[in-house]
Amino acid sequence: MSEANSSDRSVFGKVRMGYVLVESQRIDQWQQFAGDALGMHVERVAGVLVCRLDDHARRIVVVDGVEEDVAALGYQLDDEAALQEVLGRLRARSVAVREGAAAEAALRGVQHFWQFKGPKGINIELFVEPLLAQRPLKMLASGFGTGAGGMGHVAITSRRPGDALAFWQQIFDARVSDRIEDRVSGMTLDITFLRLNPRHHSVAIAATRGVKMDPMRTRIHHLNIQPVTLDDLGAAYGRCRKLGFRMALGVGQHPNDKEISFYAVSPSGFYLEYGWAPIEVDEASWEMTLHKGISVWGHSPKGLTLRDKLGELVSGVRSLARAEYAPF
Ligand SMILES: [Fe+2]
Repeated sequence: MSEANSSDRSVFGKVRMGYVLVESQRIDQWQQFAGDALGMHVERVAGVLVCRLDDHARRIVVVDGVEEDVAALGYQLDDEAALQEVLGRLRARSVAVREGAAAEAALRGVQHFWQFKGPKGINIELFVEPLLAQRPLKMLASGFGTGAGGMGHVAITSRRPGDALAFWQQIFDARVSDRIEDRVSGMTLDITFLRLNPRHHSVAIAATRGVKMDPMRTRIHHLNIQPVTLDDLGAAYGRCRKLGFRMALGVGQHPNDKEISFYAVSPSGFYLEYGWAPIEVDEASWEMTLHKGISVWGHSPKGLTLRDKLGELVSGVRSLARAEYAPF
């Protein structure tokens, strides 16, 4: 946590992931993936795919577009005071912020929002009030964990992990829960897990040690959502296989948040981690640790083909030639 924000102006615990906006040309596949495979509540509204997890009208929104990627990450603030605190911090760092238009807010399922470019050029959006759904949930999963911790987490590969870390710490008072180091394809990977509230992490930043490469074509590595029962997880895994959605990583468990999860390849290419029962952090007793190895068991990468691996290698080498955006 940055010292500058350690006073009672801290927004720690007042921020949570609220929605994800995806741009894709594969909306039919997204509908089958989110609804029939992963068991979310899905609706088609004027060509847009709306996915619900709880009483919020919109949690994942897929719009038609050529990007095939995450277009924005929405973060909910507890109240107007927390929102103004965050906007003030952005202003103080000369980060350009724009107010969303009414139609854009409606698309995202919020009353009003503000948008700016975060690390790696990802559109980060801030809102206080979500629109709530009028109809009951109709979905295959028995429920999804959201509440005070928000809808899950994102993991982002970065070539400027120090700047990304500073961003989340200085703007949102993120706290480092722990770190993991692992060896992947002959390289050492360092992953930092950041919490914004009691959820073990809302954001993870992954970077290669030494020469910084970004193997992902997409802005995020994965989006995590949290089914409430192990039965939900098992059933969703089976439906993904039956419907032909590929697994990036099979079922396994992480050492830090203890979550049991699998990673399916979304129609847009980034992964969707479907995870059960991650621990929450008790601020009074938590001690930051370094774990060696990303998984205690499982998470075997059998679903990835040689073509995927080559694609990651090409993206990683290409990333060396591009500058990665940092807001400050
Ligand atoms: Fe994750």
